[in-house]
Amino acid sequence: MSPEIVSDTTEEKAILTRCIASKAPIGRPLQILEAGCGNKWQLKLSDINYTLTGVDVDKEAVDLRQRQHNDLHEVIIGDLRTVEMPAQSYDVIYTAYVLEHVGNIERVLDNFQTWLKPGGLLIIKVPDRDTVYGFMARMTPHWVHIWYYRLIKGNKNAGKPGYLPYPTVYDPALGQQALRRFCRHNGLAVKAIFGKNNYLRKRSFRDRVIRIFVQLMSLFSFGRLAWHYNDLIYIIEKNRENSD
Ligand SMILES: C[S@@+](CC[C@H](N)C(=O)[O-])C[C@H]1O[C@@H](n2cnc3c(N)ncnc32)[C@H](O)[C@@H]1O
Repeated sequence: MSPEIVSDTTEEKAILTRCIASKAPIGRPLQILEAGCGNKWQLKLSDINYTLTGVDVDKEAVDLRQRQHNDLHEVIIGDLRTVEMPAQSYDVIYTAYVLEHVGNIERVLDNFQTWLKPGGLLIIKVPDRDTVYGFMARMTPHWVHIWYYRLIKGNKNAGKPGYLPYPTVYDPALGQQALRRFCRHNGLAVKAIFGKNNYLRKRSFRDRVIRIFVQLMSLFSFGRLAWHYNDLIYIIEKNRENSD
């Protein structure tokens, strides 16, 4: 199924902020878990009363974030597959660009399901493994990703401790069909899926060359690999009656 495409980051942030705000309870702060929080938080929730807990396996990245932004109310260092957290403690779990780096993601998804309160919201942002972008990321070694970040994205710290990119795994369970199936069988309802183009944004000569390349790749895959977006944003809700 083709996702609904969001035009830019402003539209994406407006959608996510609206979804998160819809979960704000009366009389207490919204409990948000940022899973794989890394060194920065992409959202600005200025009109919402919330408490933000960050969990990440990379202490250096979280230390860097707290030094630069100091925006986490609580920090937990641990692996999303094994870290212990109380059941039903979060209204919202937000995870961006994390699951493509983790093997056996069903353990992570199981944990998200457990940590969410009934009716809680799970937002997963992840590169789609079945796009030209995802395919290229899966087929190339990590050092190519580092040089892509340095040369194409202009990130001079790429690959240094605490900085992107992290090695990718792209667990098959991360495919759109597999993720939908997991949700169906585990008391989670997929409310919406958005696609976003996060790599073909500029109009430089280099971007035009990349555009032609990815269009050709998509053509050679008989349209199986999409080129016009690379990220998927899943809006998922935990069923109310499923309160283990
Ligand atoms: C690409 S960064 C994304 C950081 C941040 N979410 C963002 O959107 O900028 C991936 C993050 O996932 C974390 N990570 C990777 N595998 C993890 C795991 N198994 N458990 C917890 N965190 C993990 C990394 O340490 C890193 O901070």
